[in-house]
Amino acid sequence: MKDEVREICDRAFEELSYLKSLENRKDQKNQKNLQDLRVKYLGKKGLLTVLLKSLGKLPREDRPAAGKIINEAKARLESAIEDTGRSVKALQEKRVIESRRIDVTLPGFFIPQGRQHPINQVLDEVCEVFTSMGFRVEEGPEVEDNYHNFEALNIPNEHPARDMQDTFYVAGGFVLRTHTSPVQVRVMEREKPPVRVVAPGKVYRCDSDQTHTPMFHQVEGLLVDRNISMADLKGVLEAFVHSIFGSKTPVRLRPSYFPFTEPSAEIDIGCVICGGAGCGVCKKTGWIEILGAGMVNPKVFEFSGYDPEEYTGFAFGLGIERVAMLKYGIDDLRLFFENDIRFLEQF
Ligand code: PHE
Repeated sequence: MKDEVREICDRAFEELSYLKSLENRKDQKNQKNLQDLRVKYLGKKGLLTVLLKSLGKLPREDRPAAGKIINEAKARLESAIEDTGRSVKALQEKRVIESRRIDVTLPGFFIPQGRQHPINQVLDEVCEVFTSMGFRVEEGPEVEDNYHNFEALNIPNEHPARDMQDTFYVAGGFVLRTHTSPVQVRVMEREKPPVRVVAPGKVYRCDSDQTHTPMFHQVEGLLVDRNISMADLKGVLEAFVHSIFGSKTPVRLRPSYFPFTEPSAEIDIGCVICGGAGCGVCKKTGWIEILGAGMVNPKVFEFSGYDPEEYTGFAFGLGIERVAMLKYGIDDLRLFFENDIRFLEQF
């Protein structure tokens, strides 16, 4: 009996030490193998358990000693299995921790800082100047219908004024808006006077060369109330020019034509590059055009449901790229659209 116990124990410990040796390899099944081993020797039908149950076959006086031997062997095996289980578990945990280790002394990644695009900076700045004068910011759709982009602005079909702007046509009677002026109409359709709004946004024209891009930005302005005159227009636009380009910048109004304003004017500022002396940017004239403007044409009021006998107003449209070029002394429009990081970083 003693020999039998020893033999079983030897085998059990041999198997156990084999399992232990597997620890060092990545054998995730070790826990299960240990469980199998326990069942094999200590389970209900385990070798040692069966042996214990067979004690009855021994002579009565031998039973206590044999029982003691078997129980001691069981206890030893039990605790050895438990130890091994613990160390396998500890080893696995250690592996997990090591696999997630972070070297906090490594240098970090360089994350370049983003900035607002210069066009958007100028757009915001322009809107701020007008909101500080009591204008509200409004937006309209970039895909616009024929009515709002042209007809309601007194540009009928077949009218030669349509050729002033090369239009991108979209299926279904829509266009990519050629200017922000349709927002004037949309605001007047919705609201009763007085109105005081600016409408920033993208506009599209089928045009591309050194000074034209198919998409560019405008800010539209509209002010309607009783007794609004050209003097109000001039005062507001002068205040605007002075706050963007400095209070000494001269401003002049030059007669012009837009179908939706009457009278119409283009607003020039003294060339900010040469100070009026004449240079390449102002084509030696000393003046640069930055705005189209005028008194809202009574026909536009009629389209929008305002009474032209009661109300007058002015409107203006400003090209943002032009303002940004003058403000930052940039001579090539395309730089704004190439998005070369070396260019953008300077703003
Ligand atoms: N919509 C005109 C343009 O794009 C500018 C403008 C707006 C002129 C409002 C007068 C009044 O050229």
